[in-house]
Amino acid sequence: MKEYKLALVGATGVVGITARKVLEEKKLPISEYVFFASKKSAGTKIEFMGKMYTVRELTVNSFDEGFDFAIFSAGGETSKKFSPIAASKGCVVVDNSSAFRMDEDVPLIVPEVNPEEIKNNNGIIANPNCSTIQAVVALKPLDDKYKIKRIVYSTYQAVSGAGKNGIEDLKNGVETYISNNEYELQKFPYPIFSNCLPHIDVPLENGYTKEEEKMINETRKILKRPDLPVTATTVRVPVFNSHSESINVEFEKEFEIKELVETLKKAPGITIQDNLQESIYPMAINSNGYDDVFVGRIRRDYSVKSGINMWVVADNIRKGAASNAVQIIEKIICSN
Ligand SMILES: NC(=O)c1ccc[n+]([C@@H]2O[C@H](COP(=O)([O-])OP(=O)(O)OC[C@H]3O[C@@H](n4cnc5c(N)ncnc54)[C@H](OP(=O)(O)O)[C@@H]3O)[C@@H](O)[C@H]2O)c1
Repeated sequence: MKEYKLALVGATGVVGITARKVLEEKKLPISEYVFFASKKSAGTKIEFMGKMYTVRELTVNSFDEGFDFAIFSAGGETSKKFSPIAASKGCVVVDNSSAFRMDEDVPLIVPEVNPEEIKNNNGIIANPNCSTIQAVVALKPLDDKYKIKRIVYSTYQAVSGAGKNGIEDLKNGVETYISNNEYELQKFPYPIFSNCLPHIDVPLENGYTKEEEKMINETRKILKRPDLPVTATTVRVPVFNSHSESINVEFEKEFEIKELVETLKKAPGITIQDNLQESIYPMAINSNGYDDVFVGRIRRDYSVKSGINMWVVADNIRKGAASNAVQIIEKIICSN
């Protein structure tokens, strides 16, 4: 079997650290790994698969030595500058940033949903936004069976989705609550501890945030429903990890609730946790460390002719970023 060479860009970040863990677990036929970060972390030693590696600074020449795959998790600006260089040298890039997601010639992939699109890449494949990934895993089987008419998203997103500095803000908030000391915010415009911020990513002219726009546009692209009515309110909450989402869906077709739950149960990547009487439903604390999307509180929306509400939770760093990227590479390797 062919052995591959992989570059991990942003190896010292929140997504990069988890990507290393997922790569260790998956044991793909990759014989060479190179870890990149900014100048700041260059020289840092990291242990990976029982061996010590030195983190290298990413430069325009980094891809000259030849790579089969690169996972980029270092922000949009780094992706915009370096992904095309990597791709031009024959490397397939899986990019975690939003830089290329809506480009027509860049497939936006969730392996459980649209794996057939992977082959349509010109060297760059985009990983969707974390909150979109978990939503479409649950929505795709329902769209196939009942044809979705409209989606209303309300999200409850963990601070890990904002990277190292987001986690620091919540940690500092918790510690300060006990110690009464002052602290400086690293990431958010207001304290996140004991608070909810209806503001993720930059504000747009139309009153939405970029995170909300990403959820709307990426859902349409992945489901191949460019005109689908979708709306979203995205909120940062004081949870360390795993995003929770309330999803209200209206369908064109009628459904039986039992059959709908069975449809979700049979779909790939989904675990149903749904027994309100027994207090069983998806929770962030139980989703951490898993790649599945957890779905519960599935119930008819009696305010419309054919619709449901459901509660969808997933580990945003694993399924929402690192695991999804590694799963894409696994699919490519398996198809070679
Ligand atoms: N967190 C999530 O839930 C999530 C989900 C989906 C997608 N994403 C996306 O994934 C990317 C990384 O997110 P994160 O949460 O891991 O952020 P993070 O914790 O802030 O880590 C950023 C990483 O990027 C590296 N980096 C920064 N500038 C660089 C440069 N010029 N050249 C090379 N490396 C550079 C950093 O290296 P240093 O150590 O040297 O600073 C670090 O390894 C972002 O694009 C984010 O939007 C995140």
